Amino acid sequence: MSVAGDLFATGADAGVHARVDPPWDGEAWRMQARQAWCAGIAPERLIWDGDTQAPLAAATALDALPPRRPPPQVDAAFPALAAAVACHTDPQRFALLYRLLWRMASGEPRLLARASDPDVHRLRLLERAIRRDSHKAKAFVRFREVPGRPDHFIAWFEPSHRIVDRIAPFFARRFAGMRWAILTPYRSVAWDGEALGFGPGGHRADAPAEDAQEALWQAYYANIFNPARLNPTMMRSEMPQKYWKGLPEAALLPTLLREAGPRVRTMAERAPEPPRRRIPAPAPEAPVEVQGLEAVRVAAAACRRCPLWEPATRTVFGEGPADARVVIVGEQPGDAEDLSGRPFVGPAGQLLDRALGELGIDRSHLWLTNAVKHFRFEPRGKRRLHRNPEAGHIRACRPWLQQELAALRPDVVVCLGATAAQAVFGSGFRLMAGRGRWHALADARALATVHPAWVLRQRDPATRDAAYAGFVEDLRLLREAMPG
Ligand code: URA
Repeated sequence: MSVAGDLFATGADAGVHARVDPPWDGEAWRMQARQAWCAGIAPERLIWDGDTQAPLAAATALDALPPRRPPPQVDAAFPALAAAVACHTDPQRFALLYRLLWRMASGEPRLLARASDPDVHRLRLLERAIRRDSHKAKAFVRFREVPGRPDHFIAWFEPSHRIVDRIAPFFARRFAGMRWAILTPYRSVAWDGEALGFGPGGHRADAPAEDAQEALWQAYYANIFNPARLNPTMMRSEMPQKYWKGLPEAALLPTLLREAGPRVRTMAERAPEPPRRRIPAPAPEAPVEVQGLEAVRVAAAACRRCPLWEPATRTVFGEGPADARVVIVGEQPGDAEDLSGRPFVGPAGQLLDRALGELGIDRSHLWLTNAVKHFRFEPRGKRRLHRNPEAGHIRACRPWLQQELAALRPDVVVCLGATAAQAVFGSGFRLMAGRGRWHALADARALATVHPAWVLRQRDPATRDAAYAGFVEDLRLLREAMPG
């Protein structure tokens, strides 16, 4: 982010002008504030031009003046608060921040602990507004697929404050496998799969109005909407009406709200029914009846063979060309794969890409899949921590892998990690003894090596480098087995 800021003195009595550009950039504010403090400019003499870009007539640059004292000492929590508050649209925010800085550095070091102080109170209010606005953006940004460009999505969103730079890293983590852009009236951000790029604001009409997923999402929403739990006041506070225009489900809300009362009455009057099992799960060892990649993919999407389907977002099926000669089998999708629906797009996938790249192997020629096709995790706060699948999960998922292999009939199968190797060779396979050499399967030859996530887990850099070198060395066998 640019740290552009001009600090102008307009004469001793006219006060001093400071400008933050762009006007949501906390770092630009910090540089200006620090300069003003060092030059001894008291808060009442400093005029912040945060939102005006008008040139200042006959201005003198303050940074031409020598600093008269060292930089200010402030509460350690202040920089983060200031960075948040800088995004607020309140025109007085920079003056407030500078006043607080001045007071902390001039003998009130514990000022932020005084919640009753009017400046501190205001600071907290502005910071809370930014947190709330960021939270709403995370909850109510809705991406729509760009017509004719599969995997490219655009969302239109109107935040109350200038929070795009703050929320962009969240979306980059959450939708790492998609190509997306968020347009707002003042700024846009786009993710190309590797980096975030920022640009000027846009218009609502620049984003697709709806996409093919909309009807599906509305049907889902209408089904999970529980009229008995409806609290319209709470709903409007949690989902303020200003966001409704971007939400596909909002079109349903007037009808759902209107019908809620009669539906609850009907529910209450209905005779109680004994609970039913929701979905009859097939026995884990039952064979998969369908054949052919597409049919297997569709059937796997509704898999209930083990309990992992329930907390996971979706089945992550294999991906690659249907005529691939090489199949790479991993353990199970991770967080990024579960969210994007594609195998090996998270950190382990990126390490695998690096190793393949170094060996001159083109990933687009390979079929990538997993022994277990649902993400197994443990919730920890907002994070989902990977858990190894158990033998029962591997067994239940094996028919999908078998059908994938039967449809693809590859020449070479590469197993990444012990779970994949045991799914392919059987539970007696010992990875560290059997890695790095060819093993015969009925119709193909197979190779096992360590999992890239295991390489990444090595804490000591030297050990990690050695683990990576061994991983690449094992994969060199694959390179040698591939034509061209
Ligand atoms: N690890 C795996 O084994 N598979 C993936 O798809 C991602 C991470």
